[in-house]
Amino acid sequence: MARDPLRTYGGLSRRYGDAVRVPFGVGRSFFLLSRPEHAERVLVAKQDNYVKAFTYRPLRAVLGDGLLTSEGETWRRHRRVVQPVFSQRHVVGFAPQMVETTEQVVRRWPDGVALDAAGELRKLTLGIVGRALFGSELGAESERTGRSLEALQRGAVAGTFLPAATAKRGVYRRVPGLAGALDHLDGMVQRVVRGSSGGELLNLLKESGEFGEAELRDEVLTLLLAGHETTAASLAWTFVLLSRYPAARERLEDEVDEVLGGREPKAEDVDQLPWTKAVLSEAMRLYPPAWTIERDALDDDDVAGVEVPAGSTLAIPPYLIHRNAEIWPNPEGFQPERFMGEQRRSRYAYLPFGGGRRICVGAGFAMLEATLVLATISRTHRLDLVPGVTVPGRAEITYRPAGPVPMRVIRR
Ligand code: HEM
Repeated sequence: MARDPLRTYGGLSRRYGDAVRVPFGVGRSFFLLSRPEHAERVLVAKQDNYVKAFTYRPLRAVLGDGLLTSEGETWRRHRRVVQPVFSQRHVVGFAPQMVETTEQVVRRWPDGVALDAAGELRKLTLGIVGRALFGSELGAESERTGRSLEALQRGAVAGTFLPAATAKRGVYRRVPGLAGALDHLDGMVQRVVRGSSGGELLNLLKESGEFGEAELRDEVLTLLLAGHETTAASLAWTFVLLSRYPAARERLEDEVDEVLGGREPKAEDVDQLPWTKAVLSEAMRLYPPAWTIERDALDDDDVAGVEVPAGSTLAIPPYLIHRNAEIWPNPEGFQPERFMGEQRRSRYAYLPFGGGRRICVGAGFAMLEATLVLATISRTHRLDLVPGVTVPGRAEITYRPAGPVPMRVIRR
């Protein structure tokens, strides 16, 4: 489980079905649940009975009291301050920076040459959160940040099933390679917090009076990491799929050409790009960057017929729900049509951003960003996977391509 959690979860659910109890140490149960009803019960209907699982302990050691890993009153306070910046009305104001940052990266691409698409997309998404939220230029740090996050994710997954001592950040500093990674991330946060240009979200966090120095750093680190790594992964998977499905790509290029007619996209265009959005949604169905969501039960519960004793851990992986063949016919197939027009399936059959009150605060930002990035790139360029290359995934905290993704850049 610690070495390859996604493969283990997948194997268990194939063998035992969509509700599996995994005997796990003395007096502790681990449930693997992959039906929409399970997600709805745990994340929404009975959310007061659940807290983020012990499996997030390593992440908490690093991100501390940021939104993603805090609980209770601390979480509530932070969410109240941060949420308004991410309201739909507000988020559209970031669109020009999203497009401009994309254009800057794309302009440097040499025609006809293969480059690492995953790395380029990370540069882009880190550049966007840095600029839009914190007024800092971070794109140039993306390579180092990428390597640091790789090291951190590996350490976090390896530490998941170790004793509670792993809740301490100091433990991670002793793992070879991790001290350097943590130092780099801390340095980046420090540069952001001390930066003179501020940026809207940073000013808001500072001025709210709700954050001590350490809490401010935790929140900035959380938003930088949660705000770029997932979007970069979903865009990387999207370009890989488009390269494999030329008809879907042509339809996307036609839509972009027709709606934009040669100019840069704006926030208002997004509603006119239904196929572009459907392609992204379908890519996130097949490859949800937040591939598993996990909770610990405070009290006994009945989760859609599964008796869950207090103290159990529940994994509700979007990856498995999104591939449940009872809900998604031809689950392995890439069919953006599923997201065109009215959708009749259960609301929790598709949950790339989670659900309930802990739903992704950046979901609207991410969808706007991914749509604008995809439209901006596709307007002028096409990315082709280098022939013969396969793109295995790696599921740690996020699910992303396991290594560089060599794609040839072609000017359209
Ligand atoms: C495609 C991109 C993204 C995906 C797939 C994604 C997915 C998720 C999911 C599934 C959760 C819930 C985790 C849980 O319940 O345990 C979450 C939470 C969160 N996400 Fe995202 N996210 C994305 C982009 C972003 C962006 C752009 C930001 C910020 C700029 C962001 C910030 C956060 C934060 C702060 C939380 C914690 C919210 C809370 O607990 O109150 N995410 N995300």
